Amino acid sequence: MYNNNMKGLIETANREGFAIPAFNYSDIWELLAIVEAARDRKAPVYIASNSLVVNTLGIDYCGALGKVAYKESHGYVLNHLDHAMEVDLCRKAIDSGYMSVMIDGSLKELMENIAMVKEVVRYAHDKGVIVEAEIGKIRGSNEEGTYTGNEYLGSVEEAVAMVSATNVDSLAVGIGNAHGFYKQPPHIHIDLLRDVHHAVSVPLVLHGSTGIPYETVRACIKNGIAKVNVGTMLHSTYVKQLRIELEKKEDYNVVTLLTPVKDAVKAMVKEWIDVCYAGGRY
Ligand code: 13P
Repeated sequence: MYNNNMKGLIETANREGFAIPAFNYSDIWELLAIVEAARDRKAPVYIASNSLVVNTLGIDYCGALGKVAYKESHGYVLNHLDHAMEVDLCRKAIDSGYMSVMIDGSLKELMENIAMVKEVVRYAHDKGVIVEAEIGKIRGSNEEGTYTGNEYLGSVEEAVAMVSATNVDSLAVGIGNAHGFYKQPPHIHIDLLRDVHHAVSVPLVLHGSTGIPYETVRACIKNGIAKVNVGTMLHSTYVKQLRIELEKKEDYNVVTLLTPVKDAVKAMVKEWIDVCYAGGRY
């Protein structure tokens, strides 16, 4: 049985060579798939909602869903806010019961990024909530535009500056990863990850895991990654299965239509739990 304190859990993962997967959800069916898979596998997981989801569903719904999922899973499904660009959204999420928030100031200058993280850490730690920050720029082909060259990579210096100035709990680092499907096979800079891992004490976070080969994800876990974010792979599984179900017959019963969709997503969630060595951890 692991220490159920948020910081303790991610530090345990870091120490023991597994990662806690963080799955993005967009609706109740994806959420159920994640919670059921986590329960079947006895895995600690994050349910992650990004700004688009939070602003569409409403922070109160997302907060309430997180509380139910936490209770249903006996404390092993943790509600996480993904890529908040504003301090205020983090505050609202914390007030709504989120247990973990990411403040993404990566589009700002480093000092401004650090200032935002400090503000969130101050508010969050008072309430027992943990905070993730980002250095480098993890963009992608979906919501955030595209990038070229190496300007998206984080650096050891930035990582050290961020962690020492803010007391942040975990750090996402740009290492060649991007959100959404990769147009070409990704070049993940394991050497940079290793250097950052040796330079800072906090667990590191891998974003944009969809499309990174499983053996590369595991190499990242060996080199300091303790949280693995997966979104697009679940959403694409959802949409593909929904198309299949729609082709089968005309069905206006949303529950019978979406139950097999949920099951397909659940199978994908289990696959990622296994990639992260997260099963059987409680
Ligand atoms: P993917 O959608 O590429 O799996 O990335 C998810 C993510 O990093 C969320 O923060």
